[in-house]
Amino acid sequence: MGDIKILPENVANQIAAGEVIERPASIVRELLDNSIDAGADRIDVKIEEGGKGLIRLRDNGRGMDKEDMLMALERHATSKITKMSDLLFIKTLGFRGEALPSVCAVSRLEITSRPGESISGYRLKAAGGKLVSIDETGAPAGTAVEVKEIYFNTPARRKFLRTEKTETGQIIDTISRIALPFTNIQLRLDGAGKTLLNLPASDNELGRLSVLFGHDIAVSLIDTNTEKDGIKIRAYLAPPDFSRSRGDRIYIYVNNRNIRDKLVTRSVMEGYGQRLMSGQYPQMVIFLEIDPSLLDINVHPAKQEVRFHNSRMVYQAVFSSIERALTEQFSPFSDTGYKGSEDIQYNAPVYTKMAEPAWEYLGKERKGVIGDSVENRQVNLVKESPRIIGQLKDTYLLFEEKDGLLLVDQHAAHERVVYEKLKKNYSSRDIQSQAFLIPMRLEFSLKEKRILMERLAQMADVGFDLEHFGGNTFLLRSVPSLLINVEWKTFLLELIPLLEEEKDLTTGKALDRLMTVMACHGAIRAGQKLNNIEISRLWEQLEQMDLPTNCPHGRPIFRKISYYEIEKMFKRVV
Ligand SMILES: Nc1ncnc2c1ncn2[C@@H]1O[C@H](COP(=O)(O)OP(=O)(O)OP(=O)(O)O)[C@@H](O)[C@H]1O
Ligand SMILES: [Mg+2]
Repeated sequence: MGDIKILPENVANQIAAGEVIERPASIVRELLDNSIDAGADRIDVKIEEGGKGLIRLRDNGRGMDKEDMLMALERHATSKITKMSDLLFIKTLGFRGEALPSVCAVSRLEITSRPGESISGYRLKAAGGKLVSIDETGAPAGTAVEVKEIYFNTPARRKFLRTEKTETGQIIDTISRIALPFTNIQLRLDGAGKTLLNLPASDNELGRLSVLFGHDIAVSLIDTNTEKDGIKIRAYLAPPDFSRSRGDRIYIYVNNRNIRDKLVTRSVMEGYGQRLMSGQYPQMVIFLEIDPSLLDINVHPAKQEVRFHNSRMVYQAVFSSIERALTEQFSPFSDTGYKGSEDIQYNAPVYTKMAEPAWEYLGKERKGVIGDSVENRQVNLVKESPRIIGQLKDTYLLFEEKDGLLLVDQHAAHERVVYEKLKKNYSSRDIQSQAFLIPMRLEFSLKEKRILMERLAQMADVGFDLEHFGGNTFLLRSVPSLLINVEWKTFLLELIPLLEEEKDLTTGKALDRLMTVMACHGAIRAGQKLNNIEISRLWEQLEQMDLPTNCPHGRPIFRKISYYEIEKMFKRVV
């Protein structure tokens, strides 16, 4: 037949280049990688038409002699590895010997280079993958690469390029990302007659973080440094308040290479956990330093992904370092060392009808002591807790703290308390139920009935004794005693879609969802009056929580207004 033929070299090169060079920013990335690998500490980039007309990059790195310049345009020609096993120890950004030939295949290319020790340098010209000329020339030490008319020989691809503004944005983003860990390198980008990016060399990353995140966020980043199982982790975390609906501000670096990684992203998300509202992503940077032999970086044509040999270990290390840093940093409690409050339950009274007020203080030794003077005495017993000022709109609790005013959302706070208690009780198989004196009769639709009927046993596991009474009627006999003030019918109606979506409500995320719904319905409401003892009790319980900063949906529980801010409001300070 003889149908199968080897492609002409220029076609093969075009195909290979298509994978590496997607747009002008890909060229900038490759050239920048090369300059960094060449040990440069000063790199200047200039672009025209968003890189579509011209990309010029000049570095003061080690340079190339004539022979190396010619070799650099050959495919699979590299100075960075020589044998298979070198792939296990890669410390450079490049290793494939693909970038320059790919750039050359789709543009007009000019490279001028001189190694520091040579008297003169060379200028090489090539276009569409073919060498045009190479001549001796005077040149500063280092390398300059000029790329013109990208895709001049493949007009179809050129059509896919976006506007100058978009391509410029991509280039700025690419340089900012790559440059972040290399703070010793001075970097500048010029385009359209102005300086687009100016990153001086410095001994810290703050300036570069400001470029990525903006100044306000950069100054409020928390940094953390840990080492676990041989993985070094350094991260800068923006407070959860700065979260956004896209995950494009999660910057991941592995051995200083900027990559995309689903696993690391997932563990970052888990680390932030319920501090984020659902559908929100944090803003953060994480640097992983890991033995190169425990990593495969040769898995993506543009080197933008890696594979970890022990992904579980990486997941766990990332998750725990972030979780710990956030827990230490964002707490409403100025750490007083006070830990000794006894755990008194809110004992809900026995229910007789739906609207029975269940939020009532019935703690042991404080039983029956309702009244202002006793209340205040009790509150003072709570050592070192902030002073209660009172309740605002029957919704927010106000406290006086050492450094300002603390506002607490009472519903969110109690939701957190109920949620964590339910979870703890469930994991120790200790969900306490409270029986109604008279079981509650509840009617459902035919479909709802069918769903409920199938899941009665699972509901019993989490503290609900629900019994089919005949037809579409059920009897609710008992409910978890942690839940108060619940409109049971509304609660069950919200539970039904969850039962439909989740086959097993007793594990993992499904259990979390169930507990979240339970906590939301079973917590103190906004608009509910609380006396000082109840407020103080809620505060004590919040202090015991693993995550006292956010409700299970991710809404914040507290806000602080510092004296400084208050004094600014009143112009006592300027
Ligand atoms: N700015 C530079 N300064 C000094 N040498 C350079 C420079 N750019 C390229 N080189 C040399 O040219 C070679 C080929 O570069 P190229 O980018 O094509 O491949 P690579 O960097 O080795 O691997 P990769 O394809 O992964 O980028 C490099 O290995 C390096 O020796
Ligand atoms: Mg390279």
